[in-house]
Amino acid sequence: MKRSFFSVFLTFFIFIGAYAQDKPAIIPMPSKIEWKNSEFQFPSTITFYADAEAEKSLKWLKTLLNTTGSELEKASEKEANVSLKINKDLSSSLGKEGYQLKVTSEKITIEAVTNAGLFYGITTLRQLFPAEVESGKITAAFSIPSVTISDKPYYEWRGSMLDVARSFFDLDYLKKHVDRMALYKLNRFHLHLSDDQGWRIEIKKWPKLTQIGGQSAVNNGRAGFLTQEEYKDLQAYAKERNVMIIPEVDMPGHTYAALQGYPELSCENFENLNPKRAIPPAPFHGTDVGWSKFCMEKPVVYDFISDVIAELAEITDGPYLHIGGDEIEDEHYKEFVVKAEKIVRENGKTAIGWEEVTQAKVDDPFISQRWTGATKSVVDTRIIESICKNFYLDHGNIPNQPNTYSWCKKDGVSLKNVYDFVSENKKAIGVEGALWTELVHSDATADDRLWPRNIAVAEVGWSSPKKKDYSEFKKRLGTHGKRLDYLGINFYKTPDVPWNTTKIKGVFSTVEK
Ligand code: ACM
Repeated sequence: MKRSFFSVFLTFFIFIGAYAQDKPAIIPMPSKIEWKNSEFQFPSTITFYADAEAEKSLKWLKTLLNTTGSELEKASEKEANVSLKINKDLSSSLGKEGYQLKVTSEKITIEAVTNAGLFYGITTLRQLFPAEVESGKITAAFSIPSVTISDKPYYEWRGSMLDVARSFFDLDYLKKHVDRMALYKLNRFHLHLSDDQGWRIEIKKWPKLTQIGGQSAVNNGRAGFLTQEEYKDLQAYAKERNVMIIPEVDMPGHTYAALQGYPELSCENFENLNPKRAIPPAPFHGTDVGWSKFCMEKPVVYDFISDVIAELAEITDGPYLHIGGDEIEDEHYKEFVVKAEKIVRENGKTAIGWEEVTQAKVDDPFISQRWTGATKSVVDTRIIESICKNFYLDHGNIPNQPNTYSWCKKDGVSLKNVYDFVSENKKAIGVEGALWTELVHSDATADDRLWPRNIAVAEVGWSSPKKKDYSEFKKRLGTHGKRLDYLGINFYKTPDVPWNTTKIKGVFSTVEK
């Protein structure tokens, strides 16, 4: 009698233990999550329902459910296995991007205030599916655990910056990057579109920007540019996935690629190119920074930036234009920043600049992107946190990783350095990982630098800092190894993460290794 009681007792704990261990890993960690003791088994025909306002999100639900191989059939709300609902009453508790996901043994319901929220609810549901979902087809029968999740982001700005100026990345890779961002609820894709080594966005009034400036890159590497049509195509693709494109044209420094085609934007004797790394029209393929600038006393410079900003504003859906503004000393700098901000505002957009811009008297709505934290600001603007010792992904995943920088942090920017970031700024609106590409010359290398550190950026941006636990994060991340493999991501196998990976490549695995 005693023994049988003991064995029932033991079995119970073994069961609970296994059960607890087997819970799917959700990243970023939701605000509230309550696992239940049952599961939802997918039937051979899955019925679904979406109310009128949620119709837009059905595409994502169907894409996900199609991976099960089951038939899909529309049904009434009452009868459906899976339902999507817009519920404006949840606005005060969930905001614009939050959602509630409820899985019982009977049905799955996702509710949100907006379709962006539903998209994130479906994204979390995708993470409840086995990793094989990322291959496009799940081959074995499976169930998902019952759970109630109520979730919303900590920050509105959860960004990823990619420098396409030093090395160009084509539309195909940029779209793939959007897909990957969306899986982790990152929502701002910042494109650094111009620098000394290349100009990457078509500007119709100044065609030589791309005809000449688009043809060079660091080390004679990957050059090219996006036409305005391609930019809009990327933007539409991103918007469907709740990702906003933030275009950056860097000025008044980092401007050599523009000067190459239009030397009239330089001072007469090129004294603005100092030391004289290159003289137009010669291209610049090196990696030095801080040696070029517009000749800020010349009226033509303001005609130029007015045209560029107007065209960028015209093709950009989102409310922001990034004007760079970094790494420059010039007596006319502050005046330039004030003028540039005014032009952005006159074009109906809000300006963002690297933190140096806060030396000028710009105030809200200007947003400052912090990267060194060393600028003596004269204003108190909103802030995006990209502090280099936590967010510069051109630094090594580990100390001395080949082809990485270490100027900001000698031993690299580890996954933990990213994860541990906590902002002390009351005016911070979010965080952004930045990948500069002087030393990144292939998609595979970009993958290695971006992933998994961008997943840590995502959790810092989405989840409450009070809940952070690096050891626990690593365990969850480890189980995502298979997912990242199926997606064909050449992610860096961070040594202290217990990676669960697979060599089987999924049908979407198209990144060249
Ligand atoms: C920067 O790294 N120059 C913003």
